[in-house]
Amino acid sequence: MTAASARALTIRAAGVAALGGLLFGYDTGVISGALIFITDQFALSTLMQEIVVSVVLVGAMIGATATGYVADRFGRKRTLLAAGVVFAAGALASALAPEVWTLIASRFVVGLAIGLASVASPLYISEVAPPSIRGALVSLYQFAITIGIFAAFMVDLALAHWHAWHWMLGIGVFPAVVLIAGMLAMPESPRFLLKAGRDDEARAVLRTMAADGGWEAEERSIRAALAVREDARRSLAEGAVRRALGLGVALAVLQQLTGINTVIYYGPEIVRMSGIAGDRAALLANAAIGLVNVLATIIAIMFSDRIGRKPLLYAGVSGMCLALVTLGLALGSVTPDRAMGELAVVSLMAYVACFAFSLGPLVWVLISEIYPLRIRGFGMSVATLSNWAANFAVSLTFLSLLQHAGRTATFLIYAAICVVTLGVVRFAVPETKAQDLEAIRVG
Ligand code: BGC
Repeated sequence: MTAASARALTIRAAGVAALGGLLFGYDTGVISGALIFITDQFALSTLMQEIVVSVVLVGAMIGATATGYVADRFGRKRTLLAAGVVFAAGALASALAPEVWTLIASRFVVGLAIGLASVASPLYISEVAPPSIRGALVSLYQFAITIGIFAAFMVDLALAHWHAWHWMLGIGVFPAVVLIAGMLAMPESPRFLLKAGRDDEARAVLRTMAADGGWEAEERSIRAALAVREDARRSLAEGAVRRALGLGVALAVLQQLTGINTVIYYGPEIVRMSGIAGDRAALLANAAIGLVNVLATIIAIMFSDRIGRKPLLYAGVSGMCLALVTLGLALGSVTPDRAMGELAVVSLMAYVACFAFSLGPLVWVLISEIYPLRIRGFGMSVATLSNWAANFAVSLTFLSLLQHAGRTATFLIYAAICVVTLGVVRFAVPETKAQDLEAIRVG
């Protein structure tokens, strides 16, 4: 096996696993455009609308919690296969739902799959990736999330004329089937195989995939990491493990508390507040935001392994902070005019772009890197659960915050949280660029 073909196989495996991200993005993004038609058909109250939207996040929290155990017990590959099956079942059931409670139950099932995928995809990718391109490959997962969100906005836009919410939700079946078929042909993570004592299989995979330092060296370093201690609960007594867990939770929560999903879930509403766009223009601006989100992620894919994770985080989070301040001031200006409206829309785009090359991908990169192997599944599960819980809290409070605190204060709060994030990056985040997964230490 040549180095080039090993690399090609690794990239293919990462690409297939990243489909979990595409489904995550599609299934969270699609509801914004489908909701109006679902509301019409079933005559939903505001409360019922909120339930239809947020039940997915509840499912994702439960799915993410379960994944640590499932992925450490049954393997990363089987977890991704299970996610694909649950995605397909949930999407089909949502599309065929004859009344609202079946729809809510089906969206809960989709949420479970999102939770499974949001832990298992980055986990699998980071474990098959060689150190020199690990940042790029895990960023590929975020890239897939953004493509999923953008595709959902476009599908919603295209099918709106026919009020075809069944199709909007049902189309998610196709990438789910591709994920299942693709993963069947991919190897299990060699790190999981060694951890499970399946040495021969692990060696067979390492022989085909280890590119950078030869497979024997890689096996030795994984074994050394495993030899330290096995039990996750006992590991918690170690300061380094506790610090890694704390940092993972902090990063995952800050990724949400800096407000990204106010834009992803309520984009058209925010654009409308600028006063320069009607309904259709707001939907188009929303699609443009989706596209900016996709394109700016490429910066992280290109540069996270070259200039490192921390410089990208400094630049991106500072940019988000600045953009939130101008957005808040422009939307709250006492004499709203066209210039202020335009400043608001430009700020919104700049904010999304800065998130997309920093906090978006790099939080997933870092939480797939910072834990010792023996608790990696558990650690990612805890961090991802916190990510979904914080997402839930922000999505649920955004509209009330606007109402009670006002536009300027709302966005300034998210800006202040960016400042906190910069502090965490400065003082707690290790630079993991080009390091062996086994050599990474926190604190
Ligand atoms: C976040 C999601 C968000 C998406 C936007 C992801 O990294 O975890 O909550 O919707 O980025 O692109």
